Amino acid sequence: MTVHGNSAVVLRAHRTNRDQPPSSLLEVTTLPPQEPAAGQVRVRNTYQHLIAATGDLMFETTPIPVPPFRVGEPLYGVAIGEVVESRSDDLPVGAVVQHMAGWREESILGPGEAFPVPDGVFPGPEYLLNQGVPAYYGMVDVAGVGEGDVVLVSGAAGSVGSMAAQIAKARGAATVIGVAGGPEKARYLVDDLGLDAAIDHRNSDLDDRLTELAPGGITVFFDTVGGPQFEAALRHAAPGARFALAGTLAGQVGGGDGGHPRLDIMTALVREVQIRPFSTRHTPEQVQAWNTHYAQWYAEGRITFAHTLLDGDLHRVIAAQDELLAGVHRGNVIVRLAG
Ligand SMILES: NC(=O)c1ccc[n+]([C@@H]2O[C@H](COP(=O)([O-])OP(=O)(O)OC[C@H]3O[C@@H](n4cnc5c(N)ncnc54)[C@H](OP(=O)(O)O)[C@@H]3O)[C@@H](O)[C@H]2O)c1
Repeated sequence: MTVHGNSAVVLRAHRTNRDQPPSSLLEVTTLPPQEPAAGQVRVRNTYQHLIAATGDLMFETTPIPVPPFRVGEPLYGVAIGEVVESRSDDLPVGAVVQHMAGWREESILGPGEAFPVPDGVFPGPEYLLNQGVPAYYGMVDVAGVGEGDVVLVSGAAGSVGSMAAQIAKARGAATVIGVAGGPEKARYLVDDLGLDAAIDHRNSDLDDRLTELAPGGITVFFDTVGGPQFEAALRHAAPGARFALAGTLAGQVGGGDGGHPRLDIMTALVREVQIRPFSTRHTPEQVQAWNTHYAQWYAEGRITFAHTLLDGDLHRVIAAQDELLAGVHRGNVIVRLAG
């Protein structure tokens, strides 16, 4: 008889306030055995990607345009695994696939739910675990970043922000400034990701640093944080600046006013700042645009995969989600699951 490791991370109760760390409401549970039906595959998961929005999906309702998690059911999220049993003509045993049914040791996946990871493009399959799609869409399609731009990225050492900042460099921006928490993350942005400058939002004054680093004003702002960082960016906006608003980490994570910054309408209108919030729907075109550029820029050495790789089991995944929200890690946080 085949023994399947079918443990999963399950939601015990909905979050009701942001002071509750995700780990306080999650548990590892053994699911009933499930066999793949015709057309399905069983996948043994090897890498789990963690993102900030997982904390939002633990609330009973959320404005995020994907379903919230349900009490008593496993979480979901992007993972990579290997097909260990196949009843599909398309995915043989041994195929490495990316899918959305993560947060469990094994996933049963049907047609259209598992996507083969291309071989040989990146050093490892985990390099596909990134949020480059919203980063690319926001930077390129919303903000139209290009040569000569002076770019500010908030949350620049995070999952979305680290890719967005590098995309601006790859597109020829004149100056890319990243905002991150702490001196080590600031160093990382400049030394490892190749940004022109970094601002440590925990230990320096944003206005003073922006006056120094962007005396002519910023022409593009990619915002994942909101709140006071949005307000500061507007004070330093050049005429006609384009603001692509991706996220509100200062409210999602810090419990502050990330989603409710004060908008100085007079400054915005006099400088004709274009403020465009966006929500990426991961259309085939958006995914294709990012995948093509990511592979090309990576091969050319113009972009690096910013990530933190942790090792462990599903309990480690739960702990890592708390750590991500606390700002402990940088780049894309990934847990390599013990076999
Ligand atoms: N619009 C879209 O289509 C779209 C798609 C995907 C994600 N998003 C959004 O993009 C944002 C970034 O997501 P992510 O997964 O990449 O998260 P992330 O940046 O990896 O989130 C963790 C980081 O948040 C920062 N942080 C925590 N508290 C903060 C505070 N009070 N003020 C400022 N920064 C704080 C910390 O960085 P520091 O230590 O550097 O402060 C921490 O490392 C989220 O708002 C997410 O919902 C939007």
